[in-house]
Amino acid sequence: MKTHLPNFLEARRRSKQRINIDRSEFKIPDDIKNIGNERKYYLRTYGCQSNERDGETIAGILEMMGFVRTTIIEEADFVLLNTCAVRANAENKVLGELGSLKRLKTTNPDLILGMCGCMAQEESVINTILKQYDHVDLVFGTHNIHRLPQLLYHTMLSKEKTIEVFSKEGEIIENLPVKRFGEHKAFVNIMYGCDKFCTYCIVPYTRGKERSRLIEDVLQEIQQLKDEGFKEVMLLGQNVNAYGKDLGLGYDFAFLLEEVAKVGIPRIRFMTSHPWDFTDKMVEVIAHHENIMPFIHLPLQSGNDDILKKMGRRYTVESYLKIFDKLKQHVKNIAFSTDIIVGFPNETQQQFEDTLKVIKYCEYDNCFTFIYSPRENTPAAKLVDNVTLEEKNSRFQILSQLCNEIALEKNKQCIGKVLHVLVDGPSKKNKQVFAGYAENGKLVNFVGDNISVGEIVEVKITAAKTWSLYGEAIK
Ligand code: SAH
Ligand code: SF4
Ligand code: F3S
Repeated sequence: MKTHLPNFLEARRRSKQRINIDRSEFKIPDDIKNIGNERKYYLRTYGCQSNERDGETIAGILEMMGFVRTTIIEEADFVLLNTCAVRANAENKVLGELGSLKRLKTTNPDLILGMCGCMAQEESVINTILKQYDHVDLVFGTHNIHRLPQLLYHTMLSKEKTIEVFSKEGEIIENLPVKRFGEHKAFVNIMYGCDKFCTYCIVPYTRGKERSRLIEDVLQEIQQLKDEGFKEVMLLGQNVNAYGKDLGLGYDFAFLLEEVAKVGIPRIRFMTSHPWDFTDKMVEVIAHHENIMPFIHLPLQSGNDDILKKMGRRYTVESYLKIFDKLKQHVKNIAFSTDIIVGFPNETQQQFEDTLKVIKYCEYDNCFTFIYSPRENTPAAKLVDNVTLEEKNSRFQILSQLCNEIALEKNKQCIGKVLHVLVDGPSKKNKQVFAGYAENGKLVNFVGDNISVGEIVEVKITAAKTWSLYGEAIK
């Protein structure tokens, strides 16, 4: 068995060392190059957009090796689950899935079953795999995706279990292949990792330290996407506001955003902005460029200062609202989404109600709501919690109901307005109807003639539901 196992203490460490950037051509050794040989791979990605983007790199590497993608798991020769570790229920789903996939090996004994992504970075998960999931053949982490050809080759040739997970981030590798899953919308990493260490969160341990790509590399990728006809880019980072800080080259996220806007791609979004270092200059840049979409994800997590402090979020409700108000005041037709955690250890009823109060004030267009999930080795997981699960569930229900009511109300306010919708394709439920997203992040289903995928269409909104709008194209 080939193994390199994750280590929690190493994952927590932050070195001052500048990260090296590797710009050499990505090469797969000749003896490995064609081992795919038309074999089929099945890839399923869980979690956030960073993981989705990693999935595109993985697909790019596999296709460079001659593998062909399938969406039918039963016919695959290589099944890979690209996993998320952010909450226990996400993990349990994957472990259940991995267990049930054992059945595929009875019909295809040569099948290679693999797991990668954030769960692979956890010591406890690897121990579980070693003890209980003997049928899993290949495990690699978030820092060594570029090693996939060698690891897969080793697994196929030796028929041994291969586990290689590095806890410390390596260099930024620029020229990895990518198979984009979208035809007119693309994810663009601007930075990797997270140094915020919010006390509940596992991401800083699974993704390593904050490291930014050079501005010229980001701009070049976006120029290329524009030349290829892409209409929208989503700039990705766990906290995009920290962009550039680690480079010490004198530029920051506001500067990058403005340069990206100047490239002239029709639509720019970004994810995620931490409320802590949202600068005035960022507000200004967002307000002054029509191709930066007026839709901001600004995670609140809690509306109570004591809880925010215990979460290690580094902002207060007051400073959060200051940014919120400033954005609202300066950016025309702005819409907001947020993340909320209920049931943080020892959260009182009053503290929970403080959160509801802020939600009522902000009237978010979309709230992503979660019940706090203790993550191994994080500081919050060590707290003794006096709130019962029953209580947490009940708060979660109240919170969801409030968020849904507000979302419906905000959607109703769009009725009669004309929104600009980037067409994704015919709607899932009705092929006569098209679906796409408006500038304010809302899903719009609409009818119209001569509509093509990838075009931006003016749509008059005629009806609203909680999660979508309905309208008619104006042409
Ligand atoms: N970097 C992003 C968050 C990535 S994780 C940010 O800071 O906004 C996405 C969301 O998952 C978080 O915003 C948080 O609301 C939620 N989350 C993270 N850890 C969690 C945990 N242990 N339990 C419940 N929700 C959690
Ligand atoms: Fe997690 Fe906080 Fe980093 Fe977001 S900013 S990834 S919540 S530690
Ligand atoms: Fe999940 Fe990892 Fe993203 S834990 S949320 S896939 S960074």
